Amino acid sequence: MEREVVFSQDKADYALLLAEIKALYDPDLPPLSNLSNMGALIASFYADINWCGFYLWQEARQRLVLGPFQGRPACSSIARGRGVCGRALEEGRPLIVPDVEAFPGHIACDSRSRSEFVFPLVWKGKLLGVLDIDSPKIGRFSESDAHGMSAIMDFMSQALTDAGIEKLLE
Ligand code: SME
Repeated sequence: MEREVVFSQDKADYALLLAEIKALYDPDLPPLSNLSNMGALIASFYADINWCGFYLWQEARQRLVLGPFQGRPACSSIARGRGVCGRALEEGRPLIVPDVEAFPGHIACDSRSRSEFVFPLVWKGKLLGVLDIDSPKIGRFSESDAHGMSAIMDFMSQALTDAGIEKLLE
């Protein structure tokens, strides 16, 4: 597949991923369509993953609910502050979990997952949700992934806020 040639795992090219995300984003589409396509693009960027998707913050119910994803069916709702996802959103920072079994409170949705990377989507202090990526390999993600993903999550958070993503959660 062409994508696997473009994205070499040895040299994660986040500048290229950002450029592709920007090119793919279509302001004429509802946020659900953009979120779905951007999630699929992000999933194609990583080798050795078993799950990649979004949980969206439902303010009225104070919980994260399952959004567009690639992988096996997963937990559909995560209470505030729970699991790696809830913790990353609450702390407002990306979390790299090298070994999920060593993370107290980890929520096991897919038994193949061994390490996890969660990046919160927040714009101007407003919680939108998280991007969650799981790998069957221990220690799959590093701080350089969190650093590289930062501009991408900023772009998406702003674009999805402008598009009224909260309407998806009413
Ligand atoms: N492991 C996550 C739950 C979501 S699944 O991995 C898809 C967590 O602890 O929040």
